[in-house]
Amino acid sequence: MKLISTKICKTGDIGVNDNLFGGIMLAWLDEAGGIMAANVCCDHNVITLKMDEVLFKHPVKVKEQIRIYGKVEKMGKTSVSLYLEARRANLKDKSEEVVCSTEMVFVRVDPAGKPVPIKVCL
Ligand SMILES: CC(C)(COP(=O)(O)OP(=O)(O)OC[C@H]1O[C@@H](n2cnc3c(N)ncnc32)[C@H](O)[C@@H]1OP(=O)(O)O)[C@@H](O)C(=O)NCCC(=O)NCCS
Repeated sequence: MKLISTKICKTGDIGVNDNLFGGIMLAWLDEAGGIMAANVCCDHNVITLKMDEVLFKHPVKVKEQIRIYGKVEKMGKTSVSLYLEARRANLKDKSEEVVCSTEMVFVRVDPAGKPVPIKVCL
C-alpha cells in the first residue's frame, strides 16, 4: 500500500471521551482518498461517491501520528475504488497499528459535475 498522508491528533481534534473525534478521522480518510483518486485519475476533479463501513478499532490520543495508506481496488470507466487504512505510528519501536479502514469510491467529473471517463496518464 502507498502512504498518502500523515496527520497528528491535536487537542482540538478530541471528542468528549478524550479520543480523536470520529468525524475528524472520516474527514482525513476522505481527504486522503481524494488525493489518491486525483493522482490515479490525473485530474483534480474527482468527487466522493461512497464510503463503506468504517470500524474504529482502536482509540487515537493527542500527539499520536496517523498515517493513511491506500491502494486501488478497481478502476472503472468513470470511477475508482480504493481501500484505505489509517495506522497509528509507534515512534519508539517504529511499528504501526491499524486503527480503522474502509473502502471508498471516487468519480471523475467534468466542470458541471457529471461523470466523465478517467484518463490514463501513467
Ligand atoms: C458522483 C456523481 C457525480 C455520480 O453521478 P451519477 O449520475 O450517480 O453517476 P453514474 O450512475 O453514471 O455512476 C458513476 C460511476 O459511479 C459508479 N457507482 C454508482 N453507484 C455506485 C455505488 N453504489 N457503488 C459503487 N459505485 C457506484 C458507477 O458504476 C459509475 O462508475 P463506472 O463509470 O466506473 O462504471 C453524483 O452522484 C454526485 O454528484 N454525488 C454527490 C457527490 C458529492 O457531493 N460528494 C461529496 C460528499 S457530500
